[in-house]
Amino acid sequence: MRTPVVAGNWKMNGTKATVATLLQGLKHGLQPGRANVLVCAPFPYLSQVADELSGTAIQWGAQNVSEHPSGAYTGEVSVGMLEDFGCSHVILGHSERRALYGEQDDVIAEKFCAVQAAGLTPILCVGETLEQREAGATMSVVEQQLMAVVNRAGITAMTKAVLAYEPVWAIGTGKTASPEQAQEVHQALRARLAREDGAVADSLSILYGGSVKASNAAELFACPDIDGGLIGGASLDAEEFIAICQAAG
Ligand code: 13P
Repeated sequence: MRTPVVAGNWKMNGTKATVATLLQGLKHGLQPGRANVLVCAPFPYLSQVADELSGTAIQWGAQNVSEHPSGAYTGEVSVGMLEDFGCSHVILGHSERRALYGEQDDVIAEKFCAVQAAGLTPILCVGETLEQREAGATMSVVEQQLMAVVNRAGITAMTKAVLAYEPVWAIGTGKTASPEQAQEVHQALRARLAREDGAVADSLSILYGGSVKASNAAELFACPDIDGGLIGGASLDAEEFIAICQAAG
């Protein structure tokens, strides 16, 4: 039985004041449920998030990390630093990092290994663009993104990871993949991993991300291979995010 996961990706949003309001809303409004709930905050707010959320059931993480442990990497943040602030998870390979900052599969695989070596859980994102979908390349694109990491880290590494399928065309567009479209890709990703190791494939939580809202979360999460969500815009609103968490159980 896989534990559902609902992760908020705040992206580059917030101020000290809005973060405080959001965290208060989550702390007081979220009822204990079956799902693991976490928020991935911008680096400068991790200290504030750690102060507010320690001792609660809500975990927190980051949206990116360096593949290097320390040194002359101006502007970068190491896994050790994230550990210092109590992060449990790190989002890796988000399509915005791939498209806007040129992150390639090999660097993402290095980051994945660095995160796991420190005992944190990577949330590996994969997803196709609209052009790739229309060209019938969805499965080959997401499988390549996934297997670049599996080939580097090994299949058993996936027992300590979370996978997120985020079709690029559904991110921030209000255009959600239908439950059938999402389930088809989730099932294919799990089947691809099952060719390497059935038990690992079966235990892996695969989240859907892309315009998830309180109004569409339940039908997505009801699909057999969708184990929760990676939530962008809707995670900035406590009431909306809580409703999504409740839809996950
Ligand atoms: P939206 O929920 O805003 O579409 O963003 C999804 C996402 O990119 C989460 O990582």
